[in-house]
Amino acid sequence: MTTKKAVLLTGKAKRVSTTDDPELLWVEYLDQATALNGKRKEAIAGKGKLNLQISALLFAELKAAGIPTHFVSAPDDDSMIVKRAQMLPLEVVLRNYASGHFETKFHVEHMRPFTPAIHEYYFKSDALDDPFINNDQILALGITDADTLATVRHLTDRVNELLTARFAGIGITLVDFKLEFGTLADGSLVLADELSPDNFRLVDKDTGASLDKDVFRKHEGDLQPVYAEVLRRLQASK
Ligand code: C5P
Repeated sequence: MTTKKAVLLTGKAKRVSTTDDPELLWVEYLDQATALNGKRKEAIAGKGKLNLQISALLFAELKAAGIPTHFVSAPDDDSMIVKRAQMLPLEVVLRNYASGHFETKFHVEHMRPFTPAIHEYYFKSDALDDPFINNDQILALGITDADTLATVRHLTDRVNELLTARFAGIGITLVDFKLEFGTLADGSLVLADELSPDNFRLVDKDTGASLDKDVFRKHEGDLQPVYAEVLRRLQASK
């Protein structure tokens, strides 16, 4: 059994520790919600466990469908064991419909559909406030190479197909989401980070209600019961 050792880093909603296996890390999901790139922060009881359970379930399903991921196991209620990966400093956003920053930036009508879906990249840098970055800029700055970027795009489209169908099956529209990728010691690219309503925009197909972090961002009410509902539907339809 893998055991937790020293804390490596504490992020906005997760804490990463080393383990007795140098190839594996221990990730704890915290009861923390942030908005405005961390400037607004609140403790939300139960959120860590819900995000862990949703993430673990979705990683396992994507893995079974052939997506390479860092996920290994979920040893307890709020922890995940993952393969150690060198993270690409990119946030990969995919949009199926206009919402969030796309809607406000381009003044298009809410929920305008996009076929094909839109891919966007953001350079992860606290000092620069995670700026938008395009493919040429990524290559020019040496953030990654063209082949890796093509694989990122392909995997993101495949994840979108799988998750769009999965959420549609439980009455939810997958509006947009953010993914992160990393490379393992053997050089292979894997889907990493987290798969939860913190990183997805999810809308109930019947009511149009938000089932994601927009509830927190827009001060629309308690986040915990909303995330619990997403988990309930996912588990009920496994
Ligand atoms: O804010 P924006 O409209 O660009 O967000 C697009 C998608 O990416 C949303 O699903 C949001 O939850 C996710 N996202 C994220 N982390 C960020 C920025 C966006 O998970 N730092």
